[in-house]
Amino acid sequence: MKILHQKTDMVAVTKAWQGSGETVCLVPTMGNIHRGHLALIERARKTAERVVVSIYVNPTQFGTDEDFDSYPRTIDTDCDVIAAEGGCDVIYAPTGLYDAAHATNIIPSGVALPMEGEARPHFFVGVATVVSKLFNHIPADFAIFGEKDFQQLAVIRQMVRDLDINISILAHPTIREADGLALSSRNQYLTPAQRRLAPKIYAQMQNTCALIKNGTDINTAICLAKDQLQKTGFGRIDYFDLREPDDFQLCDKPTAASRVFVALWLGSTRLIDNCAIG
Ligand code: PAJ
Repeated sequence: MKILHQKTDMVAVTKAWQGSGETVCLVPTMGNIHRGHLALIERARKTAERVVVSIYVNPTQFGTDEDFDSYPRTIDTDCDVIAAEGGCDVIYAPTGLYDAAHATNIIPSGVALPMEGEARPHFFVGVATVVSKLFNHIPADFAIFGEKDFQQLAVIRQMVRDLDINISILAHPTIREADGLALSSRNQYLTPAQRRLAPKIYAQMQNTCALIKNGTDINTAICLAKDQLQKTGFGRIDYFDLREPDDFQLCDKPTAASRVFVALWLGSTRLIDNCAIG
């Protein structure tokens, strides 16, 4: 497993593989590798002959009052964990991704506007810009993103389509703890008491899906879930919505593909999750 830091090396390695007829799959991450990331990497190994995992804590997707400084940076352990779990061909940890003169950003509209777009207006600009830079450094055949960040996945798909980027985007289902909590690097910010509470997010999502499937009015089911979450100790709920998975419009007639999307605070930690009604 090679670790590369320079764009020129990464481009050369990718082109050499492709020149000898091998396909390449990229898994972009911010590191602090957990089983969610590892599932994407395993899927990448089944998808292409060569796998690149990028690790880069991207400053431009964090707001000034957010957790950029405290975000866990664990590159040495990350390399060991990836190697122990089947490995990849290259770990790409770019240096100097943005220079002082950086002045061009991608501003996604459409599917980027509701939910995260409202709660964190800087977020998708940072994500779309860094992912498009990574796509230039690793002109892969495939890139894999997790449904844990379902709106992010849709923003990337929209960008790839709109800007004619020649990379196939694949989605991987959310990996959860046994108690239902979606794996996330931010879970480690939780105190033991908060960690015990956190599975209630998924439980309330599932309950909401069951109620709606059984004919309960959407708003009634959602108000009930929000009430119960706030009664058990959660903080501000940025959103708890039922939306269509393609255009993120609020749902009035649910189908099996309609999804519950949640973003809320537990102490000073913001968690997001989503699932299909099914
Ligand atoms: P990060 O949060 O490290 O996530 C990297 C990838 O892993 C994303 O595609 C995310 O959706 C996926 N992922 C995270 N937790 C998951 C889980 N529990 N199950 C399945 N997949 C999961 O998302 C980012 O980094 C950044 O925004 C990035 C795309 C790298 C751009 O900086």
